[in-house]
Amino acid sequence: MDVEVAAAVEDAEGRLFMGSDQEKDEQTRLLTDTPIAFIVRERPRFMLQVHVTEKCNLRCQHCYNESWTRDLSMEHFLIIVKQFKRLLKITNTGGTVYLTGGEPLLWPHLLDAIRILTKERIPPRVFTNGTLVTTDMAKQLSDSRVRFVQVSLDGAQETNDSIRGEKSFDKAITGIKHLLHQGIEVTLMVTVMKRNLSEIDQLLDLADELGVQRIAFNRFIPIGSGSNLADEALSSAEVQEMLLLLRDKSGQHQVEIIQRDPLWTFVNQNVQGFSGCSAGQFLLDVLVDGTVYPCRRLPIGVGNVFEKELVDIWVASPLLRDLRDRRKLECGDCAYLRTCGGCRGVAYAKTGDPYAMDPQCFKKREKTEAELDDSILKSDDEIRL
Ligand SMILES: C[S@@+](CC[C@H](N)C(=O)[O-])C[C@H]1O[C@@H](n2cnc3c(N)ncnc32)[C@H](O)[C@@H]1O
Ligand code: SF4
Ligand code: SF4
Repeated sequence: MDVEVAAAVEDAEGRLFMGSDQEKDEQTRLLTDTPIAFIVRERPRFMLQVHVTEKCNLRCQHCYNESWTRDLSMEHFLIIVKQFKRLLKITNTGGTVYLTGGEPLLWPHLLDAIRILTKERIPPRVFTNGTLVTTDMAKQLSDSRVRFVQVSLDGAQETNDSIRGEKSFDKAITGIKHLLHQGIEVTLMVTVMKRNLSEIDQLLDLADELGVQRIAFNRFIPIGSGSNLADEALSSAEVQEMLLLLRDKSGQHQVEIIQRDPLWTFVNQNVQGFSGCSAGQFLLDVLVDGTVYPCRRLPIGVGNVFEKELVDIWVASPLLRDLRDRRKLECGDCAYLRTCGGCRGVAYAKTGDPYAMDPQCFKKREKTEAELDDSILKSDDEIRL
């Protein structure tokens, strides 16, 4: 352990060791046997999603946003960057800032913010609906040194437009072409729900045709404005179908398929180390008003950066500590706890309890069905629920 890391751990210990001996033991374990130890050892990139504006030119049916008026000021953005740098220093990790919203292309400070992050050696990424990317905007993004942009697309034309609004598909495709033309790498982001589940194949072909570098698939979570679309949330069998399809399609396409779903561990045996749900571990979201969420899809405020340092929130928040520890989760004795942890966002959306079992976990369903069949689990490696 080098001096800086040791200092970081000591600092974290100093903050944590404020309780009884029993708590001290527990906290020692937290620093040696959990993602904090993993951070020290592996130094993953810390991901900070900053919601720079609530404004948006679209009103997608599934959107988790409910408020559409406020912008982040530049002054507040700079405070967030400063705090993130401190968090990276203490954890001795690299980090990435994702500029999101709302629609970040409507934020007047976007290009300046990108330049600031680049100067600070924190790679900026932009999440956009793509519909406002003109030739000129793509050029400006490229000039400000953005290398990666994520564009949302939620199905083939008709399906996408039924979710994201009329003509949004064509506009997003035009935007993607402008970005690629400027040498910016594009990731397509698909939010998967019942309506577009059967279009995954088509989207993979489209991604190849467009020449985008990556495509990612996320589960739809019925929260915010999207709670009106609760019926569109996938069943556990459908989540399994999606992940199996993506596994089978990997390597068959030019586009790289990115899969970060915690349940991926059940279809891909190569998942190792601490992985799974990254909410509160190496991922935090900051809203326009400074509220910090473990993940935007797990909307539980754990602090406010304009009242408390981000690193203090990250180290001390009881919820964030439990999310890192995972043993207090309802699936705390599952054999796959280190590589999964379930999607805490779906658990919270469906039950109101962030510690609840991921209701879309198909391993749980398989086990229940196996029990009904009175069958015996085959190996020690099987899930224990
Ligand atoms: C909120 S948008 C912000 C950036 C930009 N406006 C866009 O649409 O990409 C970021 C991503 O969150 C996804 N998203 C929005 N609501 C969601 C929900 N309820 N569940 C899962 N993903 C959601 C969007 O589809 C998009 O890919
Ligand atoms: S998903 Fe993005 S584009 Fe759609 S309404 Fe929400 S913020 Fe706007
Ligand atoms: S809460 Fe769900 S969407 Fe958020 S990091 Fe965890 S698995 Fe991913």
